[in-house]
Amino acid sequence: MLSSLARALTSTSVRSVRNVHRSAAACSDSLFVNYRYHSLLQHRDSADNNVDTPFEFTAENLKRAQAIISIYPDGHKKAAVIPLLDLAQRQVGNWLPITAMHEVAKLLDMPRMRVYEVATFYTMFMRNPVGKYHIQVCTTTPCWLRGSDDIMVTIHEKLGLKPGETTKDGLFTLSEVECLGACVNAPMMQINDDYYEDLAVADTKEILDTLTAGKKPKAGPRNGRFAAEPAGGLTSLTGPPPGPGFMVRDDL
Ligand code: FES
Repeated sequence: MLSSLARALTSTSVRSVRNVHRSAAACSDSLFVNYRYHSLLQHRDSADNNVDTPFEFTAENLKRAQAIISIYPDGHKKAAVIPLLDLAQRQVGNWLPITAMHEVAKLLDMPRMRVYEVATFYTMFMRNPVGKYHIQVCTTTPCWLRGSDDIMVTIHEKLGLKPGETTKDGLFTLSEVECLGACVNAPMMQINDDYYEDLAVADTKEILDTLTAGKKPKAGPRNGRFAAEPAGGLTSLTGPPPGPGFMVRDDL
């Protein structure tokens, strides 16, 4: 049993650990809440997105949904919630109305709240309409060190967008995001499903011009690399691989 001194020390150290680690809550840019649902949903009714917004899966997507659900064992069909939300988002075109979440909840026989929790946790789900091209620029440290500020400024100068805004013609939405897992190709941005990497200002302008012209720019690295290999050529594995027994003692 702890002595009162030990208890006091323990509780002090727990308190200080909490204090040291406590930081301001990271807030979504689509705050806050409609009390009709739950505070976690961070939903506010709008003309485009409310409980009367029509949504139902097309016959083709319903078939896809059933095929996805059938992958999971009996009693675990709610594990299909992410692919079904993604399917719904793609059907609507880049965003997920609340009624689509309800439809997914109905299909998977799970409480709506559980679906809200998933849709609000993963930033890939857009809970408000976005433009035809959703530009997500990574500004986390590696991308920032490699010039993501210049990419943001270029997009602002070309399209007049600040993060969270959509162009008046509905073509582009700009988001500033955290690491998208392509740090070795920094700076980079994601537009819809494609990554554009190793970006310079000129590349960014060209990509935006190409999309504005209704064409598809080439995805991937823009500095001549095929993928994420060293930009200056190989620095290892430059010769044929050694055969069996390499570095093994002769007497073995
Ligand atoms: S820091 Fe930008 S992709 Fe990782």
